[in-house]
This record gives sequence, structure tokens and C-alpha cells, in this order.
Amino acid sequence: MKILVVGSGGREHALIKGILKNPAVTEIYALPGNGGIAKEPKVTCVPIGAEEVLAVDVFAGSVEGLELAVIGPDDPLAMGLADLLRKRGIPCFGPSMDGARLESSKVFAKEFMQRHNIPTARFSVFSSVEKALSHVKQAPLPLVVKADGLAKGKGVVVAKTRKTAMAAVLDSLENKVFGKSGERILIEECLEGPEVSVLAFCDGKTLIPMVSSMDHKAALNGDEGPNTGGMGVVAPNPFYDEKIAAICWDTIFKPTLEGLQKEGISYQGCLYFGLMLTKDGPKVIEYNCRFGDPEAQAVLPLLQSDLLSVLMATAQGKLSEATVSFAKQASCCVVLASKGYPGKLENQGAVILVPEEKPGVIAYHAGTKLEKDGLTARGGRVLGITAVADTLEQAVSKAYAAVPDYLFYEAHYRTDIGKTALAYLTASREGEE
Ligand code: AMP
Ligand code: GLY
Repeated sequence: MKILVVGSGGREHALIKGILKNPAVTEIYALPGNGGIAKEPKVTCVPIGAEEVLAVDVFAGSVEGLELAVIGPDDPLAMGLADLLRKRGIPCFGPSMDGARLESSKVFAKEFMQRHNIPTARFSVFSSVEKALSHVKQAPLPLVVKADGLAKGKGVVVAKTRKTAMAAVLDSLENKVFGKSGERILIEECLEGPEVSVLAFCDGKTLIPMVSSMDHKAALNGDEGPNTGGMGVVAPNPFYDEKIAAICWDTIFKPTLEGLQKEGISYQGCLYFGLMLTKDGPKVIEYNCRFGDPEAQAVLPLLQSDLLSVLMATAQGKLSEATVSFAKQASCCVVLASKGYPGKLENQGAVILVPEEKPGVIAYHAGTKLEKDGLTARGGRVLGITAVADTLEQAVSKAYAAVPDYLFYEAHYRTDIGKTALAYLTASREGEE
């Protein structure tokens, strides 16, 4: 089987490693892939960027017998890549442009939730600077200001002061720092509570949630510093117990699926629910129309079923016939980033020496490049070191025990991935005694 995978991050490496477990795979084309992906067997990296959707489409059309395309990142989905590929008759894991609006327009997502009574933070939408500023002057603090469109994860400001909220309004609406994406903004009430990511396979008729996870978005320990794409993940997320999962099914997952159906939105791919467990119950912070990164690097290693079969069943609208089961184990992914991330790139070109793989530890590559003398760091998030073990405690220690083997010049990583989750587990155990 020939498969095409679009994207170049740790998420795509995790997808490719999962797909390769199926012996029927003969060839994977990674567009554009990265240094680690290039070293995988059966993989050919093709230097076409994920956002060059027309070129991706033409390439896909040139591959004879291509059986599945898997689209990793949000941008090509928002640009309609899945629609182009489906028009060629290529089964595609990734929603249509229509479905991708759940992520590409936060205003669309909020209005969708409102139409289908899905719990979320209260919000107002603005495109006028004056109206937005006068709202900020009287609304209770803290406030969350969000650019409507995709902004590479930088479009959200949680403002504790009016000054910060006003600056965020001006940045987006007046200074246009997010370009078109920020021509409309949302101003939301600020919710409080633990955050949970739940990824789900969805073929438009069936929705199957995967094991839950907890991302660590801030750059520095203790959730300090700027927001990043994610500095590490643990799965499952201990805050998300069976009782909460059942509430989420009734109030969030099922109404979302039904909402998509009622609105005639076709959705074959991963639907990501960013949730906050508030004292008034779970609420949706955001939808993403793809696997989270690094969430995929912690969740996919726990999948016991054959990933390729599940992706294929989702793409073909036959998810109800697929088996999806997860190991009753835990995982921890620690991201090693370049110094300066998420700001400017500082140590591009640092040499990465990748040791022999150890059992239960996987190094997913993101910002790496394969050069003739070996692997180098390309900047941003470079590697994701994931460990799987029977308990979360073991997974966290195993991941951190492996980290020194992968360090490159001026690597930056958080040393507290899993700390909140473990503290919660300890406190709940003590509560039970
Ligand atoms: P988003 O890009 O929508 O995921 O937002 C980035 C982060 O901002 C989320 O992971 C939350 O930590 C935070 N956030 C977004 N919206 C809210 C909200 N209404 N209340 C509290 N925190 C929020
Ligand atoms: N880790 C968060 C995201 O992928 O959006």
C-alpha cells in the first residue's frame, strides 16, 4: 500500500511510525517530512511544503495506486487540501475545508457551539476597535482575547489587566499583527480549571474518543513564559475520569457530532477537543481539526489497534466497523526545543546524535534535518522523547531518564512535564485512604 503523509512535525513522525507497523505498507511519501522521518524504512521525503496545497495535490495525482492521504497540520486542511484530494478519488484522513472551519475560524466554532448548546466560555465578537475597547473597559477581568483565524498558536491572550486586553485588541484589529486572521476577534470570559485534550476519530457518522491527554503549553516550568505549540504531554490525563468522560460524551462529543450532521458538514479525520474542567462542568475551549502536536506523540504510542486500518476506516466512512483500543498504560512525551523557542531561532545547525532506541522509549523528530554528515536541529521543537510504561510515574521517570541521551547544543526543555498530573494522582490516592 502506498500512503501519503502531509506535514513535518513530531505528530507526522508519530503517525508514520504507527502506519509502518502495518506490514501491507510498501511506500510512504512524506511531504515534506523531516530528518527523522527520512531515516524511517519505506519512506521517501518529497520537498513540497504542507501549505503548498496545489503542489501536494499534483504530486498525489502523480502517484499510481495511492491508497490514502493523511494530512497532519491545520493550514493545508483550512486551505482545502482534503477536498482537492477527494476530488481525485484519493481517500483522505483530514476534514474538508468546511469541517476545518471548526479550527480555522474561532468565531465559526463558537457560533457552532452556541447553535448546538455545547458548553463553552461566554463570548462576544468584534471587528470594530472602538466597540472592542469599550467592551474591555466594562467586562469583568480576566478576559481572553482571541484572533478569529489561524495564527500559528499565537492568537490568544489571557489578559489579567485591562491594559493587556486593550493591547491585544489593538494588536489584532489595528496593528494587524495576525493579518487577515485577526480582522475579527473574540473576547471571552476566562474559565478556570484543569485542561484536558481529547482527540477523537470521526468519520462524520461515528466518533471514537482516544485516550485523554494533558498538554503543557507554556515554554517554562510552572506554566510560566510564553505560550508554545506544546512542550510536553502526559496521557491519560488523570483529571479526566470515567464520570467526566461520560458527561463529555453527553454534553460535548455527541452534540458536536450531531451538529456536524445537522449542518451537513462532512468530517473524516481527527477532531480535537480542547476542554476545561470547570466547576460548572466540562467546557470546550477550542476545537482543532487534526491531531494535536505533541498530543499525538503521547496518545498514538498507546493505541493497540492497527493505526493504518483506523485511519483508512475513518477516511472511508467505515469507522463503525473498526476496532479502536488503547493500552491500559501511560505515556509521557518531553519536547526538546531549540534555545529561543517560541521566539527566534538560535541554535540552528546544532548536531543531534541519536542513540540506539531503548525499549519503551521513542524519539519523535520534529525540527530535524538529515544532512550528509548526520542529523542537525532546524530550530523550534526539535525532538519529542516519549516513554510508555505501566504507570504515569514510571512513564515520566523513564522519559526524563532518556532525555540526556538526546540533548543537543543549547536544547531547551521543561523539567516538570507530568508534575501536575502526578500531584493530582497522589492527592486522590491519599483522599481514598
Ligand atoms: P487556544 O489557542 O484557543 O487553545 O488557547 C490557548 C490557551 O489559552 C488554552 O489552552 C487555554 O489555556 C487558554 N484559554 C483559551 N481560552 C480560554 C478561556 N476562555 N478561559 C481560560 N483560558 C483560555
Ligand atoms: N498541542 C496543541 C495543539 O496541537 O494545538
